[in-house]
Amino acid sequence: MKFFIDTANLAQIKEASELGILDGVTTNPSLMAKEGIKGEEAIMQHYKTICEMVDGDISAEVISTDFEGMIAEGKKLVAIHKNIVVKVPMIKDGIKAIKWFTENGIRTNCTLIFSAGQAILAAKAGASYVSPFIGRIDDSGWDGMDLIHQLSQIFSVQGYKTEILAASIRNPNHIIKCAEAGADVCTCPLDSILGLLKHPLTDIGLAKFLEDAKKFA
Ligand code: E4P
Repeated sequence: MKFFIDTANLAQIKEASELGILDGVTTNPSLMAKEGIKGEEAIMQHYKTICEMVDGDISAEVISTDFEGMIAEGKKLVAIHKNIVVKVPMIKDGIKAIKWFTENGIRTNCTLIFSAGQAILAAKAGASYVSPFIGRIDDSGWDGMDLIHQLSQIFSVQGYKTEILAASIRNPNHIIKCAEAGADVCTCPLDSILGLLKHPLTDIGLAKFLEDAKKFA
């Protein structure tokens, strides 16, 4: 399973990248706004900076909701860097746009996926990635991980090339469960990635080793 970081924060991207396990980055308009990035020029420059920091797929989201607007935005985004993947919302014009991008050699990430039906449509249109939002499904009283299991089964049976990019990750256990369920990629906040490092027995064990090491130093 590939690890992406789900942020537009450059310090967090740098920290995850320095761990040496980072395969890509996903952003969305809310994450860009959180960093105070405003205006087309600043947004394009920010994506360029991220692309220069991480050698992997970088999802950049369109904000148009009509076919023509999405195509125009997508063309500008992919011109920034070869690693840009155009993130397109799961709506009717989004599916048409994904089909167009696919036919024109542009890779896409279909975002805001909450059901298997939506994921099947996006895969049929040729999306490179589908992004099921696990945490938001959990928040609404359903089980997000059920969807990852279901997509894993469907995509394998159908032989879809589209990768399952588990999104809206809230904690380290989500990451473990995604790996178990067969997600191709997990895009996570930095805290959830770093949470994987932690175990109290590791801390206790290391303290004891270091204490004992003093005996023969
Ligand atoms: C996916 O690519 C989205 O950016 C993200 O995972 C949404 O997560 P949230 O539900 O924590 O906002």
